[in-house]
Amino acid sequence: MDFPGDLDMTRRGLLLGSAATVAMTTVPFPPPARAAPVETPIPSPALSPVRSRVSFTVNGGSHTLELDTRTTLLDALREHLHLTGTKKGCDHGQCGACTVIVDGRRINSCLTLAVMHEGDSITTIEGLGTPGNLHPMQAAFVKHDGYQCGYCTPGQICSAVAVLDEIKAGIPSHASADLTAAPQATAIELRERMSGNICRCGAYSNIVDAITEVARREA
Ligand code: FES
Ligand code: FES
Repeated sequence: MDFPGDLDMTRRGLLLGSAATVAMTTVPFPPPARAAPVETPIPSPALSPVRSRVSFTVNGGSHTLELDTRTTLLDALREHLHLTGTKKGCDHGQCGACTVIVDGRRINSCLTLAVMHEGDSITTIEGLGTPGNLHPMQAAFVKHDGYQCGYCTPGQICSAVAVLDEIKAGIPSHASADLTAAPQATAIELRERMSGNICRCGAYSNIVDAITEVARREA
């Protein structure tokens, strides 16, 4: 049986215990250690641009450039040599607008570093013909209306010139039915070989007509 005094003690003890608990939970934690001041990182030599000298021939002229080694061939042509005929479309190797001919082979100049082309011979659209003396492929594009806005056209023409050289050299394509027979410049061959050159204006039929005409003349 509880007596009033016992009850009092119990309540007092309970209150004291609660107060102690509250006091414990409200004791502030030691202040957090002050964060060390953030220092601005000093770029390591490995991240600094590294420049390198490269010499190559563009459209018959010799050029020596000192470039950041990360410079693409496309940027070297456009920004350093001011040959803006070669176009930058996607800058990711997907549209073909930047196609140039290097040592007889067409490449996407946005996907290759300029310093990789020491001693190479590069041909851009400016090196194929001039307004007064068009290359046969340029003339055929004009005749067959192989362009609308013209943005993809330099890449299309460089690619088309190289395509006819590939066919003449007997190099088969994914569309060649017989890998041992000499490939012909058929519409299906031309469409397959030109498939890396995108034309947002959709001038594909006229482009094939233009290349076909040049192929027939050269046969
Ligand atoms: Fe090079 Fe598109 S810009 S492939
Ligand atoms: Fe306009 Fe080809 S002519 S993208």
